[in-house]
Amino acid sequence: MIPYEKLDKIAYGGDYNPEQWPKEVWLEDMEMLKDAGIDIVTLNVFSWASLQPNESTYDFKRLDEIMELVKANGMKVCLATSTAVHPAWMAKKYPDILRVGFDGRKRKFGDRHNSCPNSPTYRKYSVALAEKLAEHYKDYDNIVAWHISNEFGGECYCENCEKAFRVWLQKKYKVIDEVNKVWNTAFWGHTFYDWDEIVAPNLNSEHFEYDRTTFQGISLDYRRFMSDSILECYVSEQDAVKNILPDAAVTTNLMGFYKPLDYFKWAKEMDFVSWDNYPANEDSYAKIAMAHDLMRGIKNGEPFALMEQTPSVTNWLPYNALKRPGVMRLWSYQAVAHGADTVMFFQMRRSIGACEKYHGAVIDHAGSREARVYKEVAALGKELKRIGTKTLGMKTKSEIALMMDWDNWWSVEYSAGPSQNLKYLDEFARFYEVLRNMNYNVDIVSADADFSGYQLVIAPVYYMVKGNDDEKILSFVKNGGTFLTTFFSGYVDEHDLVTIGGYPGKLRDILGIWVEEEDALPEEMENEFSYKGKTYPATLLCDLLHLEGAGQVDDNGYGTDFYKGMPVITKNAFGNGNAYYLATASTEEFYRTFLTDLCEEQGIKPVLETPAGVEVTSRENEKGQLVYILNHNDSETELFLPSAMQDVITGKIHPAGAFQLAAKDVKIMEKV
Ligand code: GLA
Ligand code: ZN
Repeated sequence: MIPYEKLDKIAYGGDYNPEQWPKEVWLEDMEMLKDAGIDIVTLNVFSWASLQPNESTYDFKRLDEIMELVKANGMKVCLATSTAVHPAWMAKKYPDILRVGFDGRKRKFGDRHNSCPNSPTYRKYSVALAEKLAEHYKDYDNIVAWHISNEFGGECYCENCEKAFRVWLQKKYKVIDEVNKVWNTAFWGHTFYDWDEIVAPNLNSEHFEYDRTTFQGISLDYRRFMSDSILECYVSEQDAVKNILPDAAVTTNLMGFYKPLDYFKWAKEMDFVSWDNYPANEDSYAKIAMAHDLMRGIKNGEPFALMEQTPSVTNWLPYNALKRPGVMRLWSYQAVAHGADTVMFFQMRRSIGACEKYHGAVIDHAGSREARVYKEVAALGKELKRIGTKTLGMKTKSEIALMMDWDNWWSVEYSAGPSQNLKYLDEFARFYEVLRNMNYNVDIVSADADFSGYQLVIAPVYYMVKGNDDEKILSFVKNGGTFLTTFFSGYVDEHDLVTIGGYPGKLRDILGIWVEEEDALPEEMENEFSYKGKTYPATLLCDLLHLEGAGQVDDNGYGTDFYKGMPVITKNAFGNGNAYYLATASTEEFYRTFLTDLCEEQGIKPVLETPAGVEVTSRENEKGQLVYILNHNDSETELFLPSAMQDVITGKIHPAGAFQLAAKDVKIMEKV
């Protein structure tokens, strides 16, 4: 959990790198940051090389000075362990720490996030550093959280990883014949007789492109193994900190929909989730919201920390457009609206050299308090002080769950066929975005979540049904729930082996259908269908399905081609509930209409109905509910309040009825 006992308001601050600056600048920093309302700094993110100048020496002198400075200025600290870049001397002395890329090339020293997760050197010295830091700084009560490494990620295909992969497989499958079975190695004569015949799947072996493999089984297991290996790095540093500080609140900064790491698994190990939000200016607000909701969803709906965002601009996009005036504030509150209890930036002061010197910062190269960005940061700082503890710890209540699953993401996109355009997140987003655009609160949940609190569970492209997960859905529907899934669902088990007996495999009885074939449409091709008298395009995939107990919901099936007339939307009454199936992809307009109907049928209401571009969410606790109204539009927008509400930031009471919200403005409202 976020360490609320140490917070008296939304924590406001972020990454601070005084080690890049002479000391004279530090004092100026402190004054400017305090004046901007900054009360927390993340320190020590990339300092391993100076903390450990050689194998036997640790030198914390400069960090001590920084810690004292920050403490004397009344700031809280999120202390990082600095293990996201190994020192150059370590790479020279122990090359096992260097990664091997997907192309099979051994890296030399350089870049960051560059350590092999299975390197004995990395494991030994990263844990040692975390432990030494915890020991050294254990008495600083202004440390509110520990930040392990930084943006864990990437992958490695070195010999140590290959060996560790075999051990991981042995643990999972016990005997080599089981591996042969689950990877179906009888195909193309890939039978293994000994564990050490198994090699890492990359361009040197099973892959011909990054996402294209001849054996899905091994590639999928390698992804699971790599996510687990990197997680072990996180856990071993966390354990090192907790051995010394059992009550420490430990986290690492995640990255939203980051494909290589199964964050549902990660979140179970983390005290609280924190993440870095770097949308492109052109991203829809719903897309940004989707990542926030995932970050809340991976830890069962618990609030999270917004660990990083840029106050103004990034440096790594092809076009690094400025956040327009008001957008930093708007997106900060959007994070809070979806469950964040901190608002933090990368970075406090813009550095003068290397690749991030033009990345946005609270303090720019001019060091000016007159800068637009500084002024916006300071204005938000004032507001957050006024809000105080009010929003902290509040939860989001939702009757709709969207199922998201990394194994499904990986396996759908490793699949050779049916369509190169079938992208897991695109299909997921179709559902999320229309629900968000209509202001329904949505929880993003894992396949093994408890569905009992929801009315509607949607599992887009639920291709892989693992273990007995179908039984959970069955009892959810039997007990009155509504389940909705789509084409390319129920095909395989957890090993990506097809469930024989007809698609959608284990979901066939629940859905009451048999999918006999699926037709992949090239981009320029469409079929069509109509629903409640209106015709919509059918795109991407068209299932050819037979009803086996389910009823047809669309008007009269596909409009053209040899499967004209076959059902597109089906509904199967099962127990007290219903299971719906959508056999093709369509337009936003269709999803909006169809999902509105499903929600209405269930009595599920949006938080507030608003004109397009105005986003609304709610968070609540035993004291009450806060409604977040965010105007993403470039112009003032009129909305209607159903009842009188009080603005938490200004204290002003708004009567029921019409209400103007300025462009990019935000209101946090409470019923009066
Ligand atoms: C990431 C990193 C930071 C910084 C920012 C720049 O989130 O964690 O160290 O590089 O990106 O956008
Ligand atoms: Zn490796």
